[in-house]
Parts: sequence; C-alpha cells; structure tokens
Amino acid sequence: MNFHVTSGTPEKQRTAALVVGIYEDEKLSSSAQRIDKASEGYVSRLIKQGDFTGKKGQALLLFALPGVKAERVLLMGCGQKDKVTAKNLRQSWSGAVKALQACGATEAMICPLEAKPKDEELTQWARLIVETAEQALYRYEHTKSKKESLKKPLAKLTLLLDQRSQQPLAEQGILQGQAIAKGVNLARDLGNLPGNICTPTYLADEARRLAKEYKSLKAKILEQAEMEKLGLGALLAVSRGSRQPPKLITLEYKGAPGKQKPIVLVGKGLTFDAGGISIKPGERMDEMKYDMCGGAGVLGTMQACAELELPLNVIAVVPSSENLPDGAANKPGDVLTSLSGQTIEVLNTDAEGRLILCDALTYSKRYRPDVVIDVATLTGACVIALGAHASGLLSNDQSLAEHLLAAGQTSDDRAWQLPLWDDYQQQLDSNFADMANIGGRGAGTITAACFLARFTEEFRWAHLDIAGTAWLSGKEKGATGRPVPLLTQYLIQRAQEAKAS
Ligand code: BES
Ligand code: MN
Ligand code: ZN
Repeated sequence: MNFHVTSGTPEKQRTAALVVGIYEDEKLSSSAQRIDKASEGYVSRLIKQGDFTGKKGQALLLFALPGVKAERVLLMGCGQKDKVTAKNLRQSWSGAVKALQACGATEAMICPLEAKPKDEELTQWARLIVETAEQALYRYEHTKSKKESLKKPLAKLTLLLDQRSQQPLAEQGILQGQAIAKGVNLARDLGNLPGNICTPTYLADEARRLAKEYKSLKAKILEQAEMEKLGLGALLAVSRGSRQPPKLITLEYKGAPGKQKPIVLVGKGLTFDAGGISIKPGERMDEMKYDMCGGAGVLGTMQACAELELPLNVIAVVPSSENLPDGAANKPGDVLTSLSGQTIEVLNTDAEGRLILCDALTYSKRYRPDVVIDVATLTGACVIALGAHASGLLSNDQSLAEHLLAAGQTSDDRAWQLPLWDDYQQQLDSNFADMANIGGRGAGTITAACFLARFTEEFRWAHLDIAGTAWLSGKEKGATGRPVPLLTQYLIQRAQEAKAS
C-alpha cells in the first residue's frame, strides 16, 4: 500500500473515494460539514432520515454526490464525539478500510476529523491510519495453493490536510506507521507459518535475510557445537528431544556510536512446544506453533528500527529450539547446568521457555547492555490473568517498567505490570539443584519471571509475557504481531531522548 499526503478542500478532490467522519448524535466532523454544504445538505438529510447513525465501525458508501468532485464519499462512523480516542478511531477506520476494499476503488483519500489538530496529534493520526490499514489488509497466503488476489485491490491512500504546513508532520507519522506495519507483518507471517516450515533454522535464515536487506543489521548465529563449548546447558537440554538443530540467533543494529550501550531484546523462539516428556493435552496443541512469537516480535522490531534508522544500538537475541518428547529428551527430575553456572532441576519439561531464555539472558551480558527486555509466550497463567488484551510486564527496574507501560499506551499495544516480589522466590526452591523450573500452582506468571530474575541481577531488565496477546484463537486464529508496536514505540522514545540530551 502506498501512502501520500496532500492539502486542499475535501469537496474539490478528484479521488475514487473520499472518507469523512460522522459522529453519533447527528454531529458532522469538519470535513463532513464541508461535504454537506457542497452537496446542499445531502449528508445531513440522510442522517436525519436515519440511514446512518455514526456508530463506531459503521460505513456507508455514497455515489456521485452533487457538488462534490470525488466519485464516492464514504461516511465513516466515529461514535460519540467526546469519546473519540485513538483506540476508537482505530475501530472506525478499520471498518472504513474494509468498506473501501469491498468497493471498486483502488485509491482513496481520508480527511482528519477536525481542522487544525495539534502537531503531535496529527503525527499520531497519520501513523494510526497507516498501521490500521495495513493490519486490515494483511493476508496470510504462504501455505495456500491458491492466492486469493483481489481484482482491484486498494493500493493507494492519501491523507488530506487543510494546511500545507502540516504535511511534514503527517509524513513523519506515515513513516513510523509503515515501519511498524512492516515489523508487525513480519512477526505475523513468522508466527502463522507452521512448525514444519518455521524451524529454528528457518528463523536463523530469516535473521540473515534481514541483515542482507538492511546494511545497519548484522546477523550472527551460534550453532549447537559452539553452544556446547560455551555451556548453554539449559537451552541445549530443551532441544535434545528434537531432530532440528537449535540456534542462538543474534541480530545487531548499529545506529549510534559504539560507546552507546545497546538495548538488548531477547525473544523466545520455540518453534513448536509439545511440552516434551511432560506432554501437553491434544486440544489446541497446534497453537503451540506460536511459541516463537517472542522471537518473531523481536525480529519484527529490529526491522522497524532499521527502517526508521533510529540513532540507537539495539541487539536481538533469539534462542530457538523445538520442545518434543523423544528417547533423548530431557526428563522430569533431570538437573541441568545453565550458562550462568546455576543448576536447575527440571520438574516439568513443559516449562521450557524459561530454560532457553535463561541462557540467552546470561549470554546478553556480553553486550554490556543498557537494558535487556525479553519477550515470551511464557505462561498459560498469563492468559488466565490478563486474557487477550494486555501483555504481562515484570521488571527489576521501576523506571524501565513505566517507560514500557507508557509505550504500550501510546501504541495501543498495552501491558499490565505484575509484582516481582522476593516473597515468590521460595516457590522455586529445590532439594537437588539451585532452583526448580516450576513454582507450583499459584502465581505462575510471576514465578516464571522470578526464575528469569535470577539470571538478570546484573542489569536493568524487563520481561513481557505475551502468551495471551501474541495470537488470536478461534475463527480469527492468527498472529497479532504484538508486541512490535510497543517495543518500537519504546525505541522511538529512547531515540527522542537520546537526541534531546
Ligand atoms: N508456551 C507455553 C505457555 C503457553 C501455554 C502460552 C498456552 C500460551 C498458551 C509454555 O512453554 C508452557 O508450557 N508453560 C507452562 C508452564 C507450567 C508447566 C509451569 C504452562 O503455562 O502451563
Ligand atoms: Mn511449554
Ligand atoms: Zn512454551
């Protein structure tokens, strides 16, 4: 999809479709008022007759309005005027994009709701338009024999402003939106690919492909033999039951001088989680192909970062493996020695995410990180606690936690903090090793984070549990691309701070 910005009066635009917002309670947005005036009250008559109520998500296509140059006018329902939040606007615009796609228009123009928005609002608005449009148009096709190509796809969207001077602000928003959408789409594609295609080797190749595409990115893959030499005993134990070789994927982004400490993003790249010897029940086990969505989100964020050329140093570390039952698989009761030297008693082989992550977190120390943020589909308990709306956030640094929470708000990809109190640590006590890999029934998301915390004491660290947010189940089954928007927003903020100081 191509995005452009222009300025002018709505009624004079020659376009296949002009999108204007209508609020509930018969209120017209400023662009709708202009269209109404030019068409001598056509729009307000229609609303009076009850044909369009302005409910959020509603869309009505009108043809050949008198006095208006556009071929079509699409009325976009925006809900109540005093409740127009970014979140609601996303839903309204998403409805409009679907209506545009269903009609014959290959390009369209969209007007802001109100004249003279504040600078920052305008950038956010443009970004939201781009992100939402790309999201609505996303199709997964990789493993379908017939591609369902539309005859006349919507290919171009123009944002119509009333002041030329505001164009650069909208252009900035478009760039951000496109970068985030690219990252989100990469994460969605990787997540949706089946486990027999998206293996650890496939993820590693994907990192190499990104490094080829962007000069600012450099990929290095640690193979099994090197991991053995270094002693990544926890990661290797998880992979023992698999015929696919494990990989420790690293992708380095250099956008700042070498002396600037990097932000390290660690993503769980478990390409299929059957549970291992502690095998999972069969129902919905297919969804465990999504157990690499943390890794995919981190790779997507790296792509967004490279697209935006942010003045930061960022490093992705993705431990990747399968978790399968096998004669060689690790067993309940086994004791492993992690890269940190700490020993772990495996009480449940299905708690494998923390095992591959703990070695990746220890490995991250070599980069002398400013902060480390790990992202993982780590616990079913997080789905019970927060459902599909918020990712779980735990951190050993409150200021980092607050920055991530704020980034989640701004990007509409929210997280919610849970406590990382020492009180929970004792649930990991083991008679046979330094710790057990599970902490019993209570507070599963917290004890998982407590386990990781034992490997991150030397740096500022945050953990995002995306078990409930990384994909949707049921009829709309599919990866969401979360938390690419949150992480990218965090990086954008960090880049702005770096510039200001
Ligand atoms: N990948 C799963 C977590 C998961 C389960 C995410 C369902 C999304 C939906 C993880 O490896 C796992 O199996 N965790 C166990 C931990 C338990 C054995 C302590 C869980 O949550 O059941
Ligand atoms: Mn598991
Ligand atoms: Zn898992």
